Amino acid sequence: MTHSAREHPWALQFVNVSKWVVGEQGRRCVLDRLNGRVATGTLLTLVGPSGAGKSTLLSLCNLLQTPDDGEVWVLGREVRDWPVSQLRRKVGLVWQQPVMLPGTVADNLALAARLHHEPPADGAALLCRVGLPADLLHRPAHELSGGQMQRVALARTLANQPDILLLDEVTSALDREAADVIEKLIVEWVNSEHKTAVWVTHDTEQARRVGHETWLIAEGRAVEQAPTAQFFTAPQTVWGQRWVLAGQSQGERNA
Ligand SMILES: Nc1ncnc2c1ncn2[C@@H]1O[C@H](COP(=O)(O)OP(=O)(O)O)[C@@H](O)[C@H]1O
Ligand SMILES: [Mg+2]
Repeated sequence: MTHSAREHPWALQFVNVSKWVVGEQGRRCVLDRLNGRVATGTLLTLVGPSGAGKSTLLSLCNLLQTPDDGEVWVLGREVRDWPVSQLRRKVGLVWQQPVMLPGTVADNLALAARLHHEPPADGAALLCRVGLPADLLHRPAHELSGGQMQRVALARTLANQPDILLLDEVTSALDREAADVIEKLIVEWVNSEHKTAVWVTHDTEQARRVGHETWLIAEGRAVEQAPTAQFFTAPQTVWGQRWVLAGQSQGERNA
């Protein structure tokens, strides 16, 4: 484990964060004075009903959207005080559907370096990091399987040497085997490099398996925030208790 002297103890801090959107029914509060902080080296899993504001919360951490009220602190600096390109290297985002740019796998992996006028990253080493063979480098990226694309998307993000990964349902579109590979890679990245990840997942078992800490997002707030083991065994709030019970009965139905 490496701890640089400059490492900030809190990767992320949310202070009374609110966000509104204008929809068909008018102005609606998506995040409602949400508070919480994420220590460096934590794998935080975010769970909660669809539409609760999980993706919106991620989008505030790399300036895809800005908070309407409150503050989001990233590595000790308020998000709006970061130069956006610098922020997005430090805070990488991977979505459910990997977006492959036209060209080869190598072109995709060279993107970050090209954007920043730097020498190209070692594509073979990046592929190796995500468990893919180097001979994929010269294949058109759009010919890969979904699982391979997601691994290339992850490698492309890791090429920026981020400190924080934002992961939005990154294994939801994959089969079990491909999902396992991605899951292990992310857990290993956090644990061996003392990095931070915020991982939105609707897979309760996954949230439990990979998380150090878990937050339940509901009605725009983090209504239960606990170490993952405690979250699933001894939730402190009625919100948390209902969520865990519903997850158990879901699990029993699927068994
Ligand atoms: N750009 C937008 N315009 C209008 N409504 C939005 C926008 N982004 C999100 N929403 C709404 O905000 C709510 C929260 O969305 P989201 O953060 O995606 O929830 P989750 O990821 O928890 O499912 C949803 O009701 C969604 O429809
Ligand atoms: Mg979402």
